[in-house]
Amino acid sequence: MYEQIKHPCVQHKLALIRDKDTGHKRFRELATEITMFVCYEALKKVRVKNVEIQTPLAMAQCHKIADDVVVVPILRAGVGMLEGILDLVPTARVGFLGMYRDEETKLPVAYYQKLPAQTRGGLCIIIDPMLATGGSTVAAIEVLKKQGAANIVVVCIVTCPEGLATVEKAHPYVEIYTASIDQHLDDHKHIVPGLGDAGDRLFGTR
Ligand code: PRP
Repeated sequence: MYEQIKHPCVQHKLALIRDKDTGHKRFRELATEITMFVCYEALKKVRVKNVEIQTPLAMAQCHKIADDVVVVPILRAGVGMLEGILDLVPTARVGFLGMYRDEETKLPVAYYQKLPAQTRGGLCIIIDPMLATGGSTVAAIEVLKKQGAANIVVVCIVTCPEGLATVEKAHPYVEIYTASIDQHLDDHKHIVPGLGDAGDRLFGTR
């Protein structure tokens, strides 16, 4: 299952972040802003618990987040979405998965892993701006499942039909939230029109 966030505020920011003339400072800010909107939707199914709060006037029956939220950025570009989701859920724990896509084979190469114990039992939110072939996302889901995660959601900024189909086929019960479903992958497995290499644009490495 996937959901595209079509709100005009998200689409406006998407236009800005795609622009080749947007520099790394503004790119980072936009990644944070878009992440907040998309994660807001992705978090709608988080479990809540009932709490009683004394307002200045009376007791109020309220809800607070009950799940242990575990945010999992795929290094390196996923770090560019971390601030946005931690603004929404400041108590979330953070696990890191280091993966890059081999330029020849286009397959993900894992190089680092550090996950909190709450990966088992918590709501795990994988963040990565680009879901291209879907290989990195599938590999990340498999790592989390091996750690006992049963409740996994993926949040990205741009994806494409090929990547969505790959993740859905491998893990049909993992929900994907995105700001855009772009046209296709080119011969280099780049998302078109996309926004370029998110890691390089976030961190100013190209
Ligand atoms: C990019 C992106 C994803 C992956 C997407 O990472 O951030 O992790 O490629 O491709 P896929 O869906 O085809 O697996 P990249 O290899 O550029 O590494 P970086 O984040 O370190 O820049």
